[in-house]
Amino acid sequence: MSFPATRMRRLRASESLRALVRETSLAPASLVAPLFVCHGERVRRPIASMPGHAQISVDVAVEEAKKLAALGVGGLILFGLPARKDPEGREAYGEDGIVPRALRAIKAAEPEILLWADVCLCEYTDHGHCGIVRDGVVDNDRTLPLLARAAVVYADAGADLIAPSDMMDGRVGAIRRALDQAGRHETPIVAYSAKYASGFYGPFREAAESAPRFGDRRAYQMDPANSDEALREVALDLEEGADAVMVKPALPYLDVIRRVKDRFQVPVVAYSVSGEYAMIKAAAQLGWLDGPRVALESLTSIRRAGADIIITYFAEEAALLLARKEA
Ligand code: PBG
Repeated sequence: MSFPATRMRRLRASESLRALVRETSLAPASLVAPLFVCHGERVRRPIASMPGHAQISVDVAVEEAKKLAALGVGGLILFGLPARKDPEGREAYGEDGIVPRALRAIKAAEPEILLWADVCLCEYTDHGHCGIVRDGVVDNDRTLPLLARAAVVYADAGADLIAPSDMMDGRVGAIRRALDQAGRHETPIVAYSAKYASGFYGPFREAAESAPRFGDRRAYQMDPANSDEALREVALDLEEGADAVMVKPALPYLDVIRRVKDRFQVPVVAYSVSGEYAMIKAAAQLGWLDGPRVALESLTSIRRAGADIIITYFAEEAALLLARKEA
């Protein structure tokens, strides 16, 4: 049955044949676009390490949401730049914080697109850590009620999905109980289950002004060397009530995405993070890579690895490219 009877090239001979046997699809509906919202009006402060992205005020975010919805992008995930930072990260769970404001405005103007709310304290704390710090350590159990409060505030403001990214133990259960008590039984939780302590978050920390002022996040985010541990994290989050789970970053962790997808029959989200975006953009700017081609290839690879949904800074660009391909 081998050569010459078998010729693998037969099914590659034309685009129609290739389309016929293509195993992996990529559609705007499974992409989620991150937005960085700040106070003020008509604000658009470009983020140097993330070309095409900016810190934007709520009015601009509403326009972005309309544009993304028109392109068929499945959702957007909001990150907030508070007016002030403090040790407890109060603006993360204040009803008048920047994210609830943005959620209310976008929900009113563009009810179709799904709104994801990232739940974490690091953008709001003056020390830049993802929880309350006591004696130089992030205090897991004291952080949980604050995360739960933030989740309820975001759900009440219009968030369709709650996505905790802090990596505290027990936060999915704490958030689930709080949402249920607030009558939000129907609000799904997408847990950042396998979130690694990664150098690929660099540009995000510039965008969200959330770099830790001391130490790093290795005592709560995962060690890049581990993947059995990722399966445990996912199993625990599902037990606590997560509706979907996430692996983050994406490209350097495709093996983890595949292991999670093979083991658990649940929706798997991959977060293709800021550093992945910045690398492609930088190489493209230097003329060293074909940017659009590599962007679509990366997203396809993340889907092929087993991700159902991808959070990506390429969401808008990819949706435009995919629409052009169809035309
Ligand atoms: C907040 C959070 C981070 C990212 C998403 N949510 C930063 C971090 O953990 O330092 C990173 C996203 C990216 O790099 O695109 N905890």
